[in-house]
Amino acid sequence: MSRIPLISGNWKMNLNHFEAIQMVQKLSYELRNHDYDAVEVSVHPPYTDLRSIQTLIDADRMHFHLGAQNCHAESSGAFTGEVSPAMLQKLEVGFVIVGHSERRSLSGETNEIVAAKAKSVFAHGMVPIVCVGETLEERESGGAESVVETQVTGSLADLSKDQLSELVIAYEPVWAIGTGKTASAEDAQLMCAHIRSVVTAIHKPAGTKVRIQYGGSVNASNAVELMSMEDIDGALVGGASLEAASFARIVSFQDA
Ligand code: PGA
Repeated sequence: MSRIPLISGNWKMNLNHFEAIQMVQKLSYELRNHDYDAVEVSVHPPYTDLRSIQTLIDADRMHFHLGAQNCHAESSGAFTGEVSPAMLQKLEVGFVIVGHSERRSLSGETNEIVAAKAKSVFAHGMVPIVCVGETLEERESGGAESVVETQVTGSLADLSKDQLSELVIAYEPVWAIGTGKTASAEDAQLMCAHIRSVVTAIHKPAGTKVRIQYGGSVNASNAVELMSMEDIDGALVGGASLEAASFARIVSFQDA
């Protein structure tokens, strides 16, 4: 079963809409048509940039998927400051990151909240990228596998069998995010294989189809090795996605 790798750039709270346009133009310039033959690429700018990037992708027929970094679970209502999945769908967003560790730790997102968001993203015709990952403490105490397993089962609890197959999961060890410390390719593979086995236990065919990204200090130098691992189907890239040339090198990892 061949799964098409998905390389996603999570810009976090960086780049205003002018800078975002420049970034996507540079990225498009760095990549060649054949770079998109074997991978899918998504860019996840802040909300305020989405309309500008949607227009650019559309007008220049770029091959990127538009992504968002979060959304609310409800379609509309009295939720001051929130953005609904229906609004993202209208902007032709394809992928929505849910449950990023920064949102789990800074905004108190529980597995139940993440599960509701993932369900709602699917209900609005988009695909969630559900993030899971252990802290350093949890890894050092030997609890990483069970922590991640609980996050996976809890965060996917509301999805149908078909949705589980379409889903993207991002394994991002918290200690590797923004620190320059990447998990070794072997450790990342072990955890991604474990995640796949958890999905397989819920619905066997979904286990072979679900795409599992690795995230946490991915850069142009370590991407090739990480992506060569059997159960790693792409990358969720933070810091290195803010520089067009380095993100382009990650996207074209198969040429290395
Ligand atoms: P990083 O971030 O690549 O800067 O470590 C990854 C992420 O948080 O998605």
